[in-house]
Amino acid sequence: MAFPQSFLDELVARSDIADVVGQYVALTRKGSNLFGLCPFHNEKTPSFSVSPDKQIYHCFGCKKGGGVINFIMEIENLSFPDAVRFLAKRANMEVPEEEQGRESQLRARILALNRDAARFYYQCLQKPEGAAVAEYLNRRRITRQTAVRFGLGASLDQWDALIQAMTHKGYSKTELLSAGLAVQGKNGGIYDKFRNRLMFPVIDVRGDVVAFGGRVLDKSEPKYMNSQETLVFSKRRVLYGLNLAKKSKRPNIILCEGNIDVVTMHQAGFDNAVASMGTALTTEQTRLLSRYTKELVLCYDNDNAGQLATARALEILDNSEFSVKVLRLPQRLVDGQYVKQDADDFIKFQGPEAFDRLLNGSENGIAFRMTQIAGRHDLGDDEQRVAYCEEVSDLLAGLENAVEREIYTTRAAQAAHITPEAMKLEVQRAFKRRLARDKRQRQRQELNPAAALQPKERDLRYTNVRSAMAEEGIIRLLVLDEGLFPQEAPIQPEQFSSPALGHIYGTLLQAREAGRPLSVAALAGELNTEEMGLLTNLLQKPVSLANGVQALEDYITIVRTEYDKRSGQGTMDPLLAAQEFRKRKREGKQEL
Ligand code: UTP
Ligand code: MN
Repeated sequence: MAFPQSFLDELVARSDIADVVGQYVALTRKGSNLFGLCPFHNEKTPSFSVSPDKQIYHCFGCKKGGGVINFIMEIENLSFPDAVRFLAKRANMEVPEEEQGRESQLRARILALNRDAARFYYQCLQKPEGAAVAEYLNRRRITRQTAVRFGLGASLDQWDALIQAMTHKGYSKTELLSAGLAVQGKNGGIYDKFRNRLMFPVIDVRGDVVAFGGRVLDKSEPKYMNSQETLVFSKRRVLYGLNLAKKSKRPNIILCEGNIDVVTMHQAGFDNAVASMGTALTTEQTRLLSRYTKELVLCYDNDNAGQLATARALEILDNSEFSVKVLRLPQRLVDGQYVKQDADDFIKFQGPEAFDRLLNGSENGIAFRMTQIAGRHDLGDDEQRVAYCEEVSDLLAGLENAVEREIYTTRAAQAAHITPEAMKLEVQRAFKRRLARDKRQRQRQELNPAAALQPKERDLRYTNVRSAMAEEGIIRLLVLDEGLFPQEAPIQPEQFSSPALGHIYGTLLQAREAGRPLSVAALAGELNTEEMGLLTNLLQKPVSLANGVQALEDYITIVRTEYDKRSGQGTMDPLLAAQEFRKRKREGKQEL
């Protein structure tokens, strides 16, 4: 345990969840809870709730939840110890740092190692051994100055150049493996993960080297190798180049596809370019971006994959606070044929001024999607015009802003050569279709309670729903009315059918044994994100504490019966089980 429990309990007690969350989310009271728009997914109607009584938050939409420490971990993108330090500062409490945990020590070592490795790759680039990479940079027209700004480097065409250098500096084999810089070989030895590649250190907004991307120098595959997820690197939460782009004076941030695009764009003066490393834009990344800008420009490659990435990014950004533009890179004519072009190609062939013109003329997300729909239909053909109107009206019906809706409805009418009035009617009909669709979906969910009972996370799916419901009930009662439980646990975590629920229950029992308050918030260090979500979710379900004793007995009987069935010990008579429970409870009470 990294921090003394008494310290964590006090920290949680001094960090009221409503105050803390209130600094990020506008909350309004509804009954005993507070509601607001979920900061973890994009939504139009508030499904994010905060319970001041239970000191937890829970989103009914994305099912994220937890206590105050979890909230800070999620929203500030911090590890558990860093979130604790963050809250301690806010609550004016001193952190007992001598208790630094093994994990945070390893984190610090990995960061130091990454920094040293970046330095090593950088130095290799200046040496004769790095000539191949230096030549490659020349070929891509990346100047020395730019290479320095990005800390680009060279991994050598050898099996253990980095391992040798880092071992010499005192780093261990385990540390090299944990950092993802070395790979375990078959015979127990290790070798360098990155070899003969152009190295891009990935630097987060705090300035830490969290990972590396390495590009081959020829056409071989895979083109890029990236660090695996490590203690310090989660690719969902990082954008390549944001460490520099966050300081840009330009009014927006440009999202492009590749590391190379970012480097070339910065070199051409567009120092506001970033890229997600080979993945679709994530909500974590949009949250990160929202700290630095209100306007995003999507500038993905102009091939099919790029178009798809644009559409997906627009979906993620739907109804977000960002104003979003799409920069369309034109295809390039080579020998009478049009070929794909990325930002790097465009700047190389057409120059920065031409790029600036595109940037100024870039259209917004709605216009982009309208153009895409138009592209799928031949508007000279009557039947296809009808199909176009239907599809485009569906898009327009989803716009919340009435002014925007009006403007684009008129534009769509022009494109389809019909009157604005007719188009407007079509949009209204589409709106009704949408409402009906939402309603049908809700009904389907209500008609299918078995599915609704399952946790959202696939890995946590219950194999025995009957038992799992009872297990949830036991946990709910334990958190809400600990007094119902005898001193000695009436049922063991191992008897639970769901490992996750068993772990939550076991953790609560341990806290109870240690005489700690059974608050969800204080368990942040012991339960993972999924378990926390599961816990806050089950706490949302209605419970009547008036019949608590009876309910607990019933739950325990069910869990025992199901457990006995599984372990093939024959069924225990439920009546007997209940009697035994009552007896143990009396004994527990007597001890008090
Ligand atoms: P690109 O293929 O567009 O790479 O992939 P690029 O950086 O623009 O390189 P050039 O211009 O072709 O030389 C976009 C990004 O996707 C990730 C990398 O982060 C890359 O920058 N990627 C690509 C991978 O992670 N693995 C791959 O095999 C390929
Ligand atoms: Mn590219």
